[in-house]
Amino acid sequence: MNAEEIKKQLDNVFSDEVIEWGKPIMQNFSKLMAYYRCALMEIETKFNVLNEEFSLRYDRNPINSIKTRLKSFQSMRDKLQRKGIDFAVNSIEECLNDVAGVRVICSFTDDVFMLAEALLNQDDITLVEAKDYINNPKPNGYRSLHLIVTVPIFLAHEKRLMKVEIQLRTIAMDSWASLEHQLRYKKDYAFDERMANELLRCAELSSELDARMDALRELIQTDE
Ligand code: GTP
Ligand code: MG
Repeated sequence: MNAEEIKKQLDNVFSDEVIEWGKPIMQNFSKLMAYYRCALMEIETKFNVLNEEFSLRYDRNPINSIKTRLKSFQSMRDKLQRKGIDFAVNSIEECLNDVAGVRVICSFTDDVFMLAEALLNQDDITLVEAKDYINNPKPNGYRSLHLIVTVPIFLAHEKRLMKVEIQLRTIAMDSWASLEHQLRYKKDYAFDERMANELLRCAELSSELDARMDALRELIQTDE
């Protein structure tokens, strides 16, 4: 197709009728994404508050860093397709739990569970689902604590409950997960059994590292 033909096709796709028809859908979609961004802000603030309080009380930070992300339009579309659900603004909210994601990187394993408990004890937070891949790691060695929660966002005329996926993990768990992700999705490279075994071994070493650091922290705390 030459440039002229492509332009003609685009003119057809972006005709006034199509744009008019798509407007309300796009508006609803943008509104929903704005609500998810608000939910991310609420959850991030809750963790920042817990970090602040803890650092005042114990003179150390349980949280190393917090990352938030909204799922991309393409990933949402692909995930709904995999589930056999037609793409619609309503189905995003009804069928996807991980549109809004928060990753909390903690200093120690104990901090992961302390922070999760403190968050879940808050009376505006409702737990939808918890997966403890720390006490029960995935067969490939992946460790993290996953929570799906709902958090209310307060708009001018309504209160809305939004779902957020929270992943809590230590620095060691996070570095393993991000390297494993990079290797698994490396283009033109067959992910073979030897590689999987080596990654599992690395996960075991990272788990040992966390256990040793936890023991060290306990020792220091007892001395104090
Ligand atoms: P998804 O369809 O991927 O959301 O799976 P799920 O609904 O069964 O959720 P699960 O709680 O198992 O995993 C959700 C998210 O955790 C993923 O999107 C990743 O961000 C992360 N995750 C889960 N398993 C792995 C893993 O083996 N390696 C890495 N690097 N990340 C993982
Ligand atoms: Mg997911």
